[in-house]
Amino acid sequence: MRLRPAPLEDWLRDYYFTADIDISSSGVQTYTMAELRAKTGVRPEDLDRLTFDDGYSTGDPALRRLIADRFGDGDPGRVITANGSSEAISLVLSTLLGPGDEVVAVQPGYHLLVAYAEALGCTTRTWTLPAERGFRPAVADLEPLVSERTRAIVLNFPHNPTGAHLTEEELRQVVALAERAGAYVLWDGAFTSLVYDAPPLPPVSTLYERGIDFGTFSKAFGLPGLRFGWCVAPPSVIDGCVRIRDYTTLHVAPLIELLAGAVIEHAPAFLEPRLRQATSNRALLAEWAGEQGDRVELALPGGGVAAFPRLPGLADTRDFCDDLFKRHGVLVIPGACFGAPEHIRLGFGGATEQLTEGLERLGRALADWPA
Ligand SMILES: Cc1ncc(COP(=O)(O)O)c(C=O)c1O
Repeated sequence: MRLRPAPLEDWLRDYYFTADIDISSSGVQTYTMAELRAKTGVRPEDLDRLTFDDGYSTGDPALRRLIADRFGDGDPGRVITANGSSEAISLVLSTLLGPGDEVVAVQPGYHLLVAYAEALGCTTRTWTLPAERGFRPAVADLEPLVSERTRAIVLNFPHNPTGAHLTEEELRQVVALAERAGAYVLWDGAFTSLVYDAPPLPPVSTLYERGIDFGTFSKAFGLPGLRFGWCVAPPSVIDGCVRIRDYTTLHVAPLIELLAGAVIEHAPAFLEPRLRQATSNRALLAEWAGEQGDRVELALPGGGVAAFPRLPGLADTRDFCDDLFKRHGVLVIPGACFGAPEHIRLGFGGATEQLTEGLERLGRALADWPA
């Protein structure tokens, strides 16, 4: 297997740890351990009782039940916990796909969802979200890409990096297309609960036998450093994941699973404050973009906390982003990391004062560019 480099991770490796102001992230403002303990009631003595035994290949049974009840159809046999959704997604892709399989992927998109299937030798058919249509997905564009040769349709809505979203009606149309073709629908729901104009979509695994849901603490929950994610899938797919995991991570650490269970039991305490903050930040972002005139073209996200504005006049935003970081201390992601070089990814899920200051500096940098 030959994986191509992931330019987003290369960019973050260079800049993330030294940024003065980070308005690049696709996640909400992160929580501290003290906040996690206050919200969940986990006490130091609860941690002291833990013995560092090995864990279950598919996850702690009680935790699988919590996940099944909250994010699936109630059947814990369809759940596997993971070291971030990245692990779950790569395990499922490796289980289901092989050389010659056809896979539909969305562009622009997060590298794991686009490049991993290619590395497994699959033929990728691209569902493009057109910038000129504000990245609005059209199921009519997907339809000709799906046939009886399609093994999997890999989706992520609300979408990173654009914030584009599907309606429930459109989700059901996608499921109908997949069902006709016998294809799996892999649904990366990292941002499911971060929606502004409509209620969250139902899990695809509750709509379709071959629907597979992925979830994570890294985005809406504000706990990326916990590295916890999960997958809800048919038991045969979960079995396939275990066969691969037996050679790699074996299981999720019991300490992480202990904290994960407590977080899921108190999920609204994590999700609701950050959704409120993201909602008001989104309004700030819209106002800021309106004030930039023709220097910024923004399609306002329907979900998630990432926006993907075009900077007209910049054919490739990389030099600008580099200068923005070095001279103004502000981190954003060049669109080239997502195959759309005229754009930048802006994260609006962080602390409001940071966002306001970051946008102000970004506006000044744009007005002065080329420096
Ligand atoms: C769309 C999407 N899916 C999956 C991931 C991986 O998340 P994690 O492995 O932290 O759960 C990311 C991280 O940025 C993402 O943006």
